[in-house]
Amino acid sequence: MITRIARAAKRLQEQSSVCRHEVPYAKSQAAIIQTDVKMYSMKQAKVTVIGAGNVGATAAQRLAEKNIASVALVDIMGGVAAGKALDLMEARPVELHDRLIFGGDDYSITAGSDVVLMTAGLARKPGMSRDDLLAKNAQIVKACIEAAHAQSPDAIFITVSNPVDAMTQLSHQILSAKGVPNNKIIGMAGVLDSSRMAFFIAEALNVSVKNIQPCVMGGHGDDMVPVARYTTVAGVPLPDLLPEAKINEIIERTQKGGIEIVNLLGTGSAFYAPASSSVEMIDAILNDKKQILPSSCMLTGEYGIDGVYVGVPAKLGKDGIEEILELKLNDQELADLKSSAESVKTNVAKMNELMSAAA
Ligand SMILES: NC(=O)c1ccc[n+]([C@@H]2O[C@H](COP(=O)([O-])OP(=O)(O)OC[C@H]3O[C@@H](n4cnc5c(N)ncnc54)[C@H](O)[C@@H]3O)[C@@H](O)[C@H]2O)c1
Repeated sequence: MITRIARAAKRLQEQSSVCRHEVPYAKSQAAIIQTDVKMYSMKQAKVTVIGAGNVGATAAQRLAEKNIASVALVDIMGGVAAGKALDLMEARPVELHDRLIFGGDDYSITAGSDVVLMTAGLARKPGMSRDDLLAKNAQIVKACIEAAHAQSPDAIFITVSNPVDAMTQLSHQILSAKGVPNNKIIGMAGVLDSSRMAFFIAEALNVSVKNIQPCVMGGHGDDMVPVARYTTVAGVPLPDLLPEAKINEIIERTQKGGIEIVNLLGTGSAFYAPASSSVEMIDAILNDKKQILPSSCMLTGEYGIDGVYVGVPAKLGKDGIEEILELKLNDQELADLKSSAESVKTNVAKMNELMSAAA
């Protein structure tokens, strides 16, 4: 690890001296990396965050400040990644954590990561669906996942970029061809959708969010499947506590939770809750928590669905997805889940068509 970091520091130094234009971020990052080489003699968990935008930078901040992992932040805008990393490092004496954050556009800084969080890509603007991002983000995801895998072949890969189920399937197409098993290729959406649902329920009942155990399945689209029957409040099923009309209202608001924020922000999409949700998954993996979290997983027959990424409850631990839970869904819930899976399949087919047309 020390040698690797020293090599990265040297490369960054060389980069700053050979460039015709000064690369100040490279110099400062090299200095930070050198200063911290000693700290790497103690093995720290390391997470690559691809994309230093709203979701990526917020995730990096939470990973470090919660003392979960050191972070290599990469972005096509190397200065932005390096600048945010440096800014976060300068908060260390106040936040008092021991984690390192370094950034740039050179994937060598990501080498040896335990987890790769893929957040690079375009975010939605008002009037855009997640699927409108399909073609553009597919090109970005392909390039980034290949570059990250070359540096961290043993990592667990979590994709966030939208449309997330299709982008995770694309990550799977790339990574499984390189021998990465299904359990190490995951998509993040269900934790976010569940968190939104839990917040709306807590608000409606005026109880602590800690009492809510939400259940949201399916793809991360308007046809996601919040399951009221399996959602509990201090162990009590939700249908025993709220009238059907109110539950339906909460379900609809959950399904449209993303666009509600897109419309409020006017530019960009939600990032605080998406970053928190990504970090919860990473924490479960790095700390081998065996935590059941809704995750976009490659289904191979579970729920009668095969060959597609869909959100289902999964046990996350050191091996990534350690188990997929099969809930006893009723006919309607199962039909909704299958229909959501079909939407993802359609999207994946569209994505593959667009990608082969562009190749
Ligand atoms: N899965 C979910 O639940 C969920 C939730 C929120 C956002 N998202 C998605 O996450 C993605 C990021 O959202 P955001 O709000 O952080 O967007 P953002 O625009 O703030 O940041 C995106 C970053 O990606 C970088 N980037 C673009 N192309 C790149 C490339 N080829 N290599 C490296 N970096 C590159 C950009 O420079 C930018 O810094 C979007 O696709 C968004 O739709 C998903």
